[in-house]
Amino acid sequence: MSACLPHPLLHTAAHPQDLLGRPLHDLRLSVIDACNFRCPYCMPAEKVGPLHGTDAGSRLSFAQMETLVRGFVALGVRKLRITGGEPLLRKDLPTLIARLAAIEGLDDLALTTNGSLLARHAKALRAAGLSRITVSVDTLDHEGFRVLSGGRGELHDVLDGIQAARDAGFSPIKFNCVVQRGVNDDQLLPLVDYARRHGDVMRFIEYMDVGTCNGWRRERVVPSREIHAAIHARWSLRPLDANYRGEVAKRHAFIDGQGEVGFVSSVSAPFCGDCHRARVSADGRLYTCLFAGDGHDVREALDAGEAALIERVAGLWRRRGDRYSEQRGRDAASRRHVEMFLIGG
Ligand code: GTP
Ligand code: 5AD
Ligand code: SF4
Ligand code: SF4
Repeated sequence: MSACLPHPLLHTAAHPQDLLGRPLHDLRLSVIDACNFRCPYCMPAEKVGPLHGTDAGSRLSFAQMETLVRGFVALGVRKLRITGGEPLLRKDLPTLIARLAAIEGLDDLALTTNGSLLARHAKALRAAGLSRITVSVDTLDHEGFRVLSGGRGELHDVLDGIQAARDAGFSPIKFNCVVQRGVNDDQLLPLVDYARRHGDVMRFIEYMDVGTCNGWRRERVVPSREIHAAIHARWSLRPLDANYRGEVAKRHAFIDGQGEVGFVSSVSAPFCGDCHRARVSADGRLYTCLFAGDGHDVREALDAGEAALIERVAGLWRRRGDRYSEQRGRDAASRRHVEMFLIGG
């Protein structure tokens, strides 16, 4: 990120480790809990209703988010990902991006979006200093896309958004596809082909039991090894080293040199041992795991200033012992989980 004011606490605050010796390296910050889609695996319309979304007054302001991120950087965070709900529904998002991009010490500032509003905002996001974009694309079939977005999305809007992002200079773009057996497992090769043709990166995610309302069934999970085999049979693959320790997606290169593909295997091969991610919801709650039941309210500390926030978050991180994906199905695994749309995956 561009250097500006030196961060007074950057080099002095201790970098906390949790109970399993894991440092805090990534922050995923949700800027809004509303979404214009209703993907059945995340926010099923019949459970969540048409108007879900907390009122604007309960969301952290841009100033609060800036203080929050500065505090997390002092604690060791170097990667920041902006999420939602759908983050582009947050008014003036490029203004927030510009404020966050100016924070000294951040190496990476990325956004996960459903892409439907990207055509309108891609240029401004780039100009504001956003480094990378990930777009959720579960299918390239127009009718299937309507179903998978809960009757709310049109594939051509998303494809236009992706093209606008490329035109604005985001490259490569990453795509997330949550694979469900019998739902979109016929889309693996078309999606890989699309990503390869554009020099982008396709990632396949095992369908997870997030939240409380997505009706998860293990039979619907397509293990990454099966997805890998289907792709490898068409375009040969070889494994790549991780870009950084704790990278979620296992990367594989096409041996013909045309790019790479990633597999996120949280069900078949959990990666909790290297989980350095904290999540903060739009209303200022810290979740130490994607599957946590409760968040820790950090607003009061935030309002007391950066030093108070740092102390509060360091204390919470030091008490963290989460490793849900490694415990899934056992008694130790809690059955109450935060909804995915509150913390953006
Ligand atoms: P890069 O920064 O490009 O490496 O992206 P990323 O893989 O960290 O981010 P992205 O949001 O694209 O992650 C892809 C998906 O992986 C998410 O939407 C989640 O479904 C899943 N995922 C990410 N982090 C975790 C995690 O800590 N635990 C579990 N169980 N799943 C995760
Ligand atoms: N399983 C796996 N990934 C999910 N996401 C949302 N719900 C699920 C689920 N049940 C991920 C998708 C989307 C991101 C915002 O969250 O990858 O791209
Ligand atoms: Fe919205 Fe993303 Fe959840 Fe789909 S997965 S409902 S686009 S937040
Ligand atoms: Fe991290 Fe929780 Fe995911 Fe394990 S299940 S990788 S602890 S977020």
